[in-house]
Amino acid sequence: MSTLQAVNTSNNTNIDFLPLQGTDYVEFYVGNAKQAAHYYKTAFGFQSLGYSGPETGVKDRASYAIRQNKLTFVFTTPLRSGNAIADHIYKHGDGVKALALRVDDATSAWEETTKRGAKNFMSPVRHKDEQGEVVMSGIHTYGDTVHLFIERKNYQGAFMPGYKAWVSEYNPTSTGLLYVDHCVGNVGWNQMNKWVKFYEDVMGFRNILSFDDKDISTEYSALMSKVMSNGNGFVKFPINEPAEGKKKSQVEEYLDFYDGEGCQHVALATNNIVETVTALRNRGVEFLKVPTTYYNDLQSRVGKIDEDIEPLSELGILVDRDDEGYLLQIFSKPVEDRPTLFFEIIQRKGAKSFGKGNFKALFEAIEREQAERGNL
Ligand code: FE2
Repeated sequence: MSTLQAVNTSNNTNIDFLPLQGTDYVEFYVGNAKQAAHYYKTAFGFQSLGYSGPETGVKDRASYAIRQNKLTFVFTTPLRSGNAIADHIYKHGDGVKALALRVDDATSAWEETTKRGAKNFMSPVRHKDEQGEVVMSGIHTYGDTVHLFIERKNYQGAFMPGYKAWVSEYNPTSTGLLYVDHCVGNVGWNQMNKWVKFYEDVMGFRNILSFDDKDISTEYSALMSKVMSNGNGFVKFPINEPAEGKKKSQVEEYLDFYDGEGCQHVALATNNIVETVTALRNRGVEFLKVPTTYYNDLQSRVGKIDEDIEPLSELGILVDRDDEGYLLQIFSKPVEDRPTLFFEIIQRKGAKSFGKGNFKALFEAIEREQAERGNL
């Protein structure tokens, strides 16, 4: 029995008060930004883009920006203890601090959202250098996570004022990662609908898909999820909440180890998942494995697909189909020692959904890891 439901709560006559052009960058607060940037360059195939720190006049932190196609990551670390960044890392470990969204007008984005109840994180501020200006503002979302609004239409530099170009002699080749497909937030018990309402009321998003614990449960643990999307569909934020099961929900394990709500995974798009995952695996990125039996009935479950089954099975890539097409996806193991943030690699071939047909196989794979950590 499927309880998947498309929910349409939009009022199409309303104009979008928060037009978003997509994800501008994802900023991570980390214990050692220099080494984190090196890891993501090496393992995920990013290139050096920008650096900000004492040498550029920023005294309290160092930030490294790296880029691959339309994907930009920033790693920020504090230079001393006793400040908000250091406290964030002490509490959460390495994790996502900011999901920065590209806008045409960062002042209007901040005014429209704070007017609707968003908690202020950063009032609009203009940063200028000889390459032009970037206007930034920001609001709080779940946990200690924030959304920044980035207006860069009058900026010609590599990243933003305050950063100098980071020219490196170490330039690993791309792994074919293109852009952020979606970012998932884990929230606490009974908090999912509160955050659904936040994205609806404060940011004008719509709930486009809902999954309840019947959809997302195994014999042992469960979770619920609602997918929030902005008007043009460029920005999608699924929200997960733990659900009662025989054993501990994977979302609850995250909440325990992250010490609160936060970003669970960032899904990165590729046009060739077999090549991308092969490259990532060769560079040391570890992925969850489903049993090879998953592939026995794949064809009958998802129908004809362009890819050969063998490399998919070899790499552990999952396939799911919806009314509009199919998608291929795989999930990394957590990229820190805490079982918190991980990455999804996704290739969409028409499908706009999130791999519901894979939830059971996938969550059983996650539970095997959870059990090994003694947290199931
Ligand atoms: Fe995902």
